Amino acid sequence: MKNPVIFKRYVECLKDILVQSFQDKAICVQFLYGLMVLGLGVLATIALPFLLKKIVDTFSSHASSGFTLVLIGYGLLWTLNQASFHLRALFTYKIEQRITFVLGLKVLSHLFHLSHGYFLDQKPGAITNVIRRAQRDVPAIVLGLFFHVIPTFLEFLGALILISSFYSLKYSISLSCILGAFFVYTALSMKSALKERQIANEVDKAAEGIVVDWLSNHEAVRTFGRWDYALSFCREELQKREQAEVKFISNLSLSRLGQTLILGIGLSLQTFLIGQDVSRGILSVGDFVLFNGYILQFIIPVSILGHVTQDVKKALLDMKGIIEILLTESQIKEAPSPLSLQGESFLIEFKDVSFKYQTYPIFEDVSLKIKPQETALIIGPTGTGKSTFAKLLMRIYDPNHGEILINNTNLKEVSFRSLSNIIGWVPQESYLLNDTIQSNLLFSLPEATTKEIEEALEKASLLEFVRKLPEGLNTFVGDRGLKLSGGEKQRLALARLFLKQPKICIFDEPTSFLDRNTELTIQRNIETYLPHMTKIIITHRPFMFEKADQIITLEKKGILIKFPQTYMQKPFLSSNSTTSHLKFQRHSGDQQC
Ligand SMILES: Nc1ncnc2c1ncn2[C@@H]1O[C@H](COP(=O)(O)OP(=O)(O)OP(=O)(O)O)[C@@H](O)[C@H]1O
Ligand SMILES: [Mg+2]
Repeated sequence: MKNPVIFKRYVECLKDILVQSFQDKAICVQFLYGLMVLGLGVLATIALPFLLKKIVDTFSSHASSGFTLVLIGYGLLWTLNQASFHLRALFTYKIEQRITFVLGLKVLSHLFHLSHGYFLDQKPGAITNVIRRAQRDVPAIVLGLFFHVIPTFLEFLGALILISSFYSLKYSISLSCILGAFFVYTALSMKSALKERQIANEVDKAAEGIVVDWLSNHEAVRTFGRWDYALSFCREELQKREQAEVKFISNLSLSRLGQTLILGIGLSLQTFLIGQDVSRGILSVGDFVLFNGYILQFIIPVSILGHVTQDVKKALLDMKGIIEILLTESQIKEAPSPLSLQGESFLIEFKDVSFKYQTYPIFEDVSLKIKPQETALIIGPTGTGKSTFAKLLMRIYDPNHGEILINNTNLKEVSFRSLSNIIGWVPQESYLLNDTIQSNLLFSLPEATTKEIEEALEKASLLEFVRKLPEGLNTFVGDRGLKLSGGEKQRLALARLFLKQPKICIFDEPTSFLDRNTELTIQRNIETYLPHMTKIIITHRPFMFEKADQIITLEKKGILIKFPQTYMQKPFLSSNSTTSHLKFQRHSGDQQC
């Protein structure tokens, strides 16, 4: 954390999380209860050895006044001490879970606002790994500091004050030296343990990313019969993780062994010193018990303190991943005061738009208009940028140069919500949630009624299929919809659009998995049920061809050419075949496919 910007972000991030967690009054009350039992616990810890001394001294002097009271008091204090520890755990657990919740939500909300490009460079497993680790460890920063570090210091300070007020200074000095040596050693040994932790974190993140990736591609693994190949990849990653974790734990265990040795040596020296003074008659047997009590009493919290300090450092390290996510800014930003698009029909305009992926140019100075309620077909060879055209329109990417306007408003000025409200998209590959058919539909219009859902399914030619399913709308579609056929997935994506009824409809190869008859039914339903929408249809098939107001062809060179229908010879469809190609001629006479 040498970088002050990163450090500032750590502090800001922790502050945000704490402020949000403690906004709830119930959590503040838990915290106060925690403080109360903490205070009682500290007092009991300091008082216990004194009571023990009193008991032993009373035994030695055979005095009996108030002895019963002291004996009962000792038992009560011990119970209070132990109970305070467990009660503290109960109260802090609730706070810990709230911090975990707030942290998770904060990161997720940031992630959902990041641009598509960020996710293309990440493995989902690696992202969840970072979140999970931070959620597990970050509460340790807050609670560890508050409920372990501070009380142990208070207890130690209290004991030191008592010892130095009643006994010679040499006892408190020797006690301080033992603990001083312990903490110096802890700080030094922690450095190398934490370096190993950092390496182990990176390895763990990479391993999880790769394993999750292979698991989500299990179909490909199976169809290619490459279990061994997949397993060898996973094995390598898991092995790296095993080695990194073992290295970290060995380092940590050695460091903890060193801590125990220091405390052990300290205890022996102190016992020897006090024992000598008892035999010389300088101290009583009760004093011996008192010192011994303090030392033994401190050894456990101090060694826990050593662990907690290490946990706090480890948690700070785990937070690094979260800070990296929170520091990532979206490449696609919403305007500070975004506009909302109003109206029933929308004009789309590309003005001198240029776009490239990294260094790979897709569009150069493209200008075109798609008028309200028009149907525009986008065709062209594979890889020429048809889907990219749609993504630019939805602001998944921004052009490098030029403007994209809807009703004369630059998309960069429009609010994300407004844009997603007016645009509906049937993507080339359907994105389905691992949930029921109904949930997948409600995703596009949460307030839709069952009747509306059924109507949308009917328009997408899917209602009959859904009705035949034993669970009907409540049928689970499986991971990414793998329990459905390609055509069913596609029609479910179409049903989402029919349900939403957006003012601008983008269909990216919406019927590529459908037979010609179903395709014609869908075509008719689009004409009937989405008549006034501005429609953009990306296709390699004769879909909606006769209905298009304009046909936009993308060429390999990345230049966009507009073909009003009048410029074309009649489309040549090898009509009854599902593998038919679109053919038309440019006005220059070039043949395109
Ligand atoms: N995120 C990305 N980063 C880099 N290159 C990309 C990215 N997305 C797409 N491309 C490349 O840009 C080109 C255009 O992609 P796009 O998906 O728009 O093609 P398409 O015309 O829709 O093709 P198809 O007909 O096969 O669907 C392709 O060569 C593709 O490899
Ligand atoms: Mg495409």
